Amino acid sequence: MHHASIVLFGVGGVGGALIRQIVQNRAHHATEYDLALPILAVCDRDGAVVTLDDAIDDATLLNIVDFKANKGRLANYSQGGPQHDLAAVIDIAARPHTIIVDCTATETTVPALLTALERGYRVVLANKKPLTIQQEVYDRLTRAGETADGHAPRQMTATRWETTCGAGLPVIATLNRLIASGDSVSRIAGAFSGTLGFVMTGLQQGRRFSEVVREAHQLGFTEPDPRDDLGGVDVARKALILARGLGWRIEMEQASITGLYPPEMTGLSVTAFLDALPSLDAHFQQMVDEAAAQGKVLRYVATVADGGCVVGPQTVDAASPLGQLRGADNLVEFHTRWYHPTPLVLQGRGAGVDATAAGVLSDIVELALSK
Ligand SMILES: NC(=O)c1ccc[n+]([C@@H]2O[C@H](COP(=O)([O-])OP(=O)(O)OC[C@H]3O[C@@H](n4cnc5c(N)ncnc54)[C@H](OP(=O)(O)O)[C@@H]3O)[C@@H](O)[C@H]2O)c1
Repeated sequence: MHHASIVLFGVGGVGGALIRQIVQNRAHHATEYDLALPILAVCDRDGAVVTLDDAIDDATLLNIVDFKANKGRLANYSQGGPQHDLAAVIDIAARPHTIIVDCTATETTVPALLTALERGYRVVLANKKPLTIQQEVYDRLTRAGETADGHAPRQMTATRWETTCGAGLPVIATLNRLIASGDSVSRIAGAFSGTLGFVMTGLQQGRRFSEVVREAHQLGFTEPDPRDDLGGVDVARKALILARGLGWRIEMEQASITGLYPPEMTGLSVTAFLDALPSLDAHFQQMVDEAAAQGKVLRYVATVADGGCVVGPQTVDAASPLGQLRGADNLVEFHTRWYHPTPLVLQGRGAGVDATAAGVLSDIVELALSK
């Protein structure tokens, strides 16, 4: 049987769902792939549970998931302890064929990820931040596994990051397949935020911007501070990952990002921001009306084209895939030499801890079965 052991950083929504799915799929992976995925270490921001045995047993793993869901700290867990250095956890726990899985939302994991790759381990990321800081870090994270002559076939490197863009939707895999075929990608346009999709659909239905944003906030569709969604930076990170996936050398500062609120609203408290939202209603009503007058609709779009990333509200043809999109789904159009004039389109749920964890698990299985 193949063994690919796991060291997991982050046991929040995605990390917890991943543990549950690994446990639930043990028989499936054994039967279909002759594969075992023992978990050797599980870390949160200042604690860890680490085993020197063959694996943390499944009952303990599921108990850790419950413990974390109840806001426990692994430093205080019965079999846990403090940890202040993820690279040290790797050195204690990892053994040949270990896969380090980053389900945190911080770039502070980068030194440990680079250490892991230097030691010959492999890496799966749900976390966008390590891939969207300096280009040089992206290169080191994604080109590990290349041969001495600098040769690194995309599918054979030591890192996978499918869920960083469109969660479980196979966006990166599709991009890699297009590139593998020699197709030339002229433009990628996508709606990568369920929250902003909800807002745009509401505007198209004739609702006021303030009303839709407040509803999204009340329903828990936005981050606690809705500006974290409305600012567009998370969408820009996804666009940057796609642009870099095309082989472009580009930094986050070069991305053009237009958020859905003006800079002068940055300093407000969350409550004051929500109270001030009606001041933006007329502006968005005008944008929606102008789009409609041209037979178009307003969408929050990330465009990767002509060497750059542009993120913000854009008018799109009402009949296009993006124009037809309603609600919180993600949608990506790949415009290429062979997918022209009709683009290759992926659409579906672009968030959610289970769909994301499933995408992470697919990355793990793919790496585990590759040489
Ligand atoms: N949720 C989705 O639908 C979705 C979709 C696609 C991608 N993602 C990405 O997946 C990642 C995880 O998302 P999530 O929703 O699971 O986030 P989350 O619930 O906030 O969980 C984050 C976890 O990371 C841990 N963590 C933070 N800093 C750490 C550090 N320095 N070392 C070790 N662990 C650390 C946290 O530990 P504590 O418990 O100690 O705070 C927590 O367990 C994010 O990067 C997110 O962007 C999420």
